[in-house]
Amino acid sequence: MKVVRAKTAGFCFGVKRAVDTVYEQVDSFDGPIFTYGPIIHNEEVVKDLEQKGVTVIRTEEELNSITEGTVIIRSHGVEKRICDMLEMKGIRVVDATCPFVKKIHNIVQQESAEGKLILIIGDPSHPEVQGIRGWAGENARVIQNADDIENTDFGKKNEICVVSQTTFNYNKFKDLVEIIKKKSYDVSVLNTICNATKERQTEAESIAKSVDAMIVIGDKHSSNTQKLFEICREACNNTYYIQTLDDLDLNQLGSVETVGITAGASTPNNIIEEVQNNVRIIF
Ligand code: F3S
Repeated sequence: MKVVRAKTAGFCFGVKRAVDTVYEQVDSFDGPIFTYGPIIHNEEVVKDLEQKGVTVIRTEEELNSITEGTVIIRSHGVEKRICDMLEMKGIRVVDATCPFVKKIHNIVQQESAEGKLILIIGDPSHPEVQGIRGWAGENARVIQNADDIENTDFGKKNEICVVSQTTFNYNKFKDLVEIIKKKSYDVSVLNTICNATKERQTEAESIAKSVDAMIVIGDKHSSNTQKLFEICREACNNTYYIQTLDDLDLNQLGSVETVGITAGASTPNNIIEEVQNNVRIIF
């Protein structure tokens, strides 16, 4: 029996860094600790942190009512306005914005200061996109589809700078950029899509193709785990979606010789290891 665990299973670099930051703060800081939004979309991790005294702040009003302690900014980042507000209040801030997202903040801030129109390709309701927009000044628009481009006034001489949400689909990004280029001559395009998701999907697919059964681990609300499951099921009929070891019915796996394991971006390492160790013992 062979168990193959994907190297890219679980947290990406930015999420790992943010989660580690919260645990480090718990160990080293005495005052109250808050995260602005759940640090990660995983119930187990958020519950564990709550037990260690970390409070999740869900709204700007709640954030504004804080008078002491530390606020940790998660990997998605936040609008400049939020950083300014916390600074004015004198609240200690630990910024765990993923460096790849921070790089986009810096780009849009600089390019917009130079007078360019900033187009952010992404989902306008996603916190990462709202954060980026918040660093881009007044002259910025969010583009999610071709209709949004049609409805955008590009002005006559406007120079345009295009960036992307880090998790946006590359093919869709390319298509939208082509349409934008037809509408304006002066377009600089910065592909700011992060490879972590794509790499995880590519590796999962290639493992699923080569094993008898595949296990995908992730929170039931995690859309990237759902996508990972679909990709693996396409490649291997015998694919199972579980949240923790408790969901794994080993009888279901049947008599197989090789098992592959991967996990979504919000699945902690200890859950992946637990599953991996148990599959190894059983087989
Ligand atoms: Fe993760 Fe940062 Fe990429 S949070 S998906 S490494 S942009």
